[in-house]
Amino acid sequence: MCGIVGYIGNKSGTDIVMKGLEALEYRGYDSAGIALINGDKSQVFKQVGRVSGLAKEVDEKAPEAHLVMGHTRWATHGGVTVQNAHPQANNDQTIFVVHNGIIENFAEIRAKLKAEGYHFDSQTDTEVVPNLIDFYLKQLPSFEDAFKAALGDVRGAYSIVAVSSKEPETLYAARLSSPLVVGVGDGENILASDPSAIMEHTKKVIYLEDYDVAVITKDKVSVHNLKEGKQTEPKVELLDFENEQALLGDYPNFMLKEIFEAPATIKTATLGRARADQGIVKLGGLESVLRQLKHVDRIVIVACGTSYYAGLVGEYLIEELAGVPVEVHLASEFKYRDEPFSRSTVLLAISQSGETADTIAALKKVEDYGVLRLGIVNAVGSTIARMTDAGVYCHAGPEKAVASTKAFIAQVTILTEIALHLSDGKHKLFKPLLKELGDLPAKAQVVLDSAEDIKKIAEKYADYRDFLFIGRNNAYPSAMEGALKLKEISYVHAEGYAAGEMKHGPLAMIDANFPTFAIATNSQLLEKTCSNIQEIKARKGPVVAIATQGNKTIKDLCDDVIYIPATLEETQPILHAIATQLFAYYIAQHKGLDVDRPRNLAKSVTVE
Ligand code: G6P
Repeated sequence: MCGIVGYIGNKSGTDIVMKGLEALEYRGYDSAGIALINGDKSQVFKQVGRVSGLAKEVDEKAPEAHLVMGHTRWATHGGVTVQNAHPQANNDQTIFVVHNGIIENFAEIRAKLKAEGYHFDSQTDTEVVPNLIDFYLKQLPSFEDAFKAALGDVRGAYSIVAVSSKEPETLYAARLSSPLVVGVGDGENILASDPSAIMEHTKKVIYLEDYDVAVITKDKVSVHNLKEGKQTEPKVELLDFENEQALLGDYPNFMLKEIFEAPATIKTATLGRARADQGIVKLGGLESVLRQLKHVDRIVIVACGTSYYAGLVGEYLIEELAGVPVEVHLASEFKYRDEPFSRSTVLLAISQSGETADTIAALKKVEDYGVLRLGIVNAVGSTIARMTDAGVYCHAGPEKAVASTKAFIAQVTILTEIALHLSDGKHKLFKPLLKELGDLPAKAQVVLDSAEDIKKIAEKYADYRDFLFIGRNNAYPSAMEGALKLKEISYVHAEGYAAGEMKHGPLAMIDANFPTFAIATNSQLLEKTCSNIQEIKARKGPVVAIATQGNKTIKDLCDDVIYIPATLEETQPILHAIATQLFAYYIAQHKGLDVDRPRNLAKSVTVE
């Protein structure tokens, strides 16, 4: 959460930082602010709301400046107020700090500083940092020393950028468990939470590592690692991807655009990988670990949110096709578990952003276990992509809407390919499934073509407060993901349940005001799901179902039916997802909500 941009150089940093903040707004959009240092003068502009609001004020009032830093916030400590927006300053208004992450011992530091005469104007954890630097600056010879001393007292996860009005040529930065990358330019350097804010200006980057403290002037980046206690040689890497501009085109928002990118997403995720003509699956990203993969005895998948539900679909696929036991864990739970691990266990992290703090922590937890760490990641060059031993990129392109749609489609497609790959061509479904992956983009398009029908149904159900989503087997994760989509963007209470569990509790909630969304596509368990639908109907519960084209019986059973094309049971979750995404989308749209930026959420969750 929270996006950081810093600029030092010959150009006007104000424009560069503001543009960078726009690119990083997906990380948080409660409030935004910038600090400019001009000579020995400093100015701060802060606003509650979107970056565009701040941009207006900055355009009108802010001068050009060569040292600028900015922040777009997702509130953790303290409400959404101008006071709590970043940059935060010391009492003398000479030191400014932007921060992403959480300072866990801020209360302790705050008490200590109060005893020294400092006062605090915000409720943030961040405000202790500029004051702590100030405190040490009174005892130590340089700002750099004071910055390091302050970091030594701080516990938690952070990326921090600090500037001083007394040092108009220097940006100070530090990272621990929260991303920060320096774009190395000609007569300028740019700091940001991720490369999207930098790419337009330079392709040369330095990814800061944990415990790094960087001192950045327009011509130099020097890095000191606090843990190693010494200066390190920063490694300059070349970004090997283009700044893919996500443009809306004719779409009213990114979510709809991204849902409609499903066919292209499947194509890209399978291109050159699922080769039906040759009867092979070739995953270039896993080539280097093929030998280790031959000996895998268990796969533990870790992920959060939508990526977690993709993992659950993957569990069914890998166990069925490859016969390898799979466990899927919420990364936030996994990292605190005492889980027995053998050397031949593989940890597979799934993440759209590649920056989710809990997923990173799960990977870190097994760092010393000697197990293979793989990733399915969308954001190229992200932390998870870099910290895993090998992996498969989604190549779904930038996903801007907070609720994940096309990334899920890509993740499940890749998990299907991994399952096929691990099956070594031995499973009877190997060839049919390979072929089906080739046919799937056209089938996804058929679901999209029924968007208007789904819209009508969604509008009919838009005013219900609660929703139950049910499914069996691999439609169970589809139900959970469908419920999550509805919660995220429509603020409707929705629960995803295994249809077979209905009688063990959820049925008690059912009445005429509590609708159910049943995933009832053709499968071996369809009759059982239909029995569950009967039980719901018998209690007057309204039912919407997703069914396979041609299934007329369902129509008599349910109030409304969304038909999707016939596909193998293994590939159904991809089509289920498109239908449930559209359903949630149209409910949110009908309610007039901001579908791209739902309240209280952020695209990239970089705090625990
Ligand atoms: C946030 C996003 C979700 C996403 C989850 C995991 O909650 O809003 O859409 O599924 O993080 O993110 P990741 O980038 O790791 O897939």
